[in-house]
Amino acid sequence: MRTQTSFFKQRNMENQNTTTNTDIFEGLKQPNCTILAPLSGITDAAFREISRRQGCGFVYAEMTSSDALMYDSDKAHKRIQGLDAPIPVIAQLLGHKPDVMADAAQLCEEQGADAIDINLGCPAKNIVKGRGGSALMKEPETVEALIKAMSNKTTKPITVKIRAGWDSECKNALEIAQIAEGAGAKLIAVHPRTRAQAFRGHANWDVIRMVKENVGIPVIGNGDVKTPEDAQRMRSETGCDAVMVGRAALGRPWIFNHIAHPEGYREPRFEERIDIAIEHLGLIAHYKGDNRGAVEFRKHLACYLKGMPNNKFIRERMSRMESVAIVVEILEEYKERLKGRMEDAA
Ligand SMILES: Cc1cc2nc3c(=O)[nH]c(=O)nc-3n(C[C@H](O)[C@H](O)[C@H](O)COP(=O)(O)O)c2cc1C
Repeated sequence: MRTQTSFFKQRNMENQNTTTNTDIFEGLKQPNCTILAPLSGITDAAFREISRRQGCGFVYAEMTSSDALMYDSDKAHKRIQGLDAPIPVIAQLLGHKPDVMADAAQLCEEQGADAIDINLGCPAKNIVKGRGGSALMKEPETVEALIKAMSNKTTKPITVKIRAGWDSECKNALEIAQIAEGAGAKLIAVHPRTRAQAFRGHANWDVIRMVKENVGIPVIGNGDVKTPEDAQRMRSETGCDAVMVGRAALGRPWIFNHIAHPEGYREPRFEERIDIAIEHLGLIAHYKGDNRGAVEFRKHLACYLKGMPNNKFIRERMSRMESVAIVVEILEEYKERLKGRMEDAA
């Protein structure tokens, strides 16, 4: 492994792109900097903004197909809305064609992205069939070509998000990480499950440590962080530069404040949670319009309601939530009911 590492370090020096601005990664060095993971269908501009308001300092946008972007798909263009935000935003692209990925990276830069990430982890069958996402864990040469082509087309840093490997027979996270660094990637996020595991089983943080110990660029650790204690433990066990949170932020964007200020933190009260949900709804409507915003909000609301009492009546009315006004009315009624419940208990 030692010989391989020095080989890659040497190639890194040859490939160093001196014009790329990597200052945005300085923020990662803040002790409690926590990153919002890319979550397809979830981490749109509204979710990123509500996470920022709840203490998140660094966000990934949801994956976007480079082919769809370059073929002018309206849906794909909507997925790169709001990249120009007050905190660093990494846009994430899916694809395997260097020229198309390079053009798409340039487009993301024009839209305000601070860095452009290559998705090397998506396990979905249709994506893998098209040689995208985690299929690229088996194609080191393609990974190298993508990073080089994209670095030549944008001044923003190119980053990668990898998995532990394809399956238990092919766990090559370190090889891909070193190839990525050698080709000019400026940051690596590691989700240490194989493609075969999808999101099952447990994330093996040893893989994050191994990558961190063998590359010179910042490494973000990801997988199964649900509490400030998990975040702290991931940092100390792996030495990663920052921690990324995905599923634990669903319906709980305040987790970023909790991780940033574990001392003296208190969970928002039920009414406060509803207020945050309403704020989130307003943001979705701002970006997607009243009807679509209300409809899309339903899936988020189901997450906000988890663990909250007496919410059956909301679930029953979910299918009727077709405008922001209707959703707000229902949630205000819920708040009143919650108040009554507190007063009964007092
Ligand atoms: C619904 C969902 C959507 C996801 N979408 C993406 C994506 O667009 N790009 C990506 O790299 N990873 C995606 N992931 C993986 C997450 O970014 C993250 O690596 C994974 O959920 C593990 O982290 P966690 O345990 O904190 O959730 C997705 C995961 C889920 C559950």
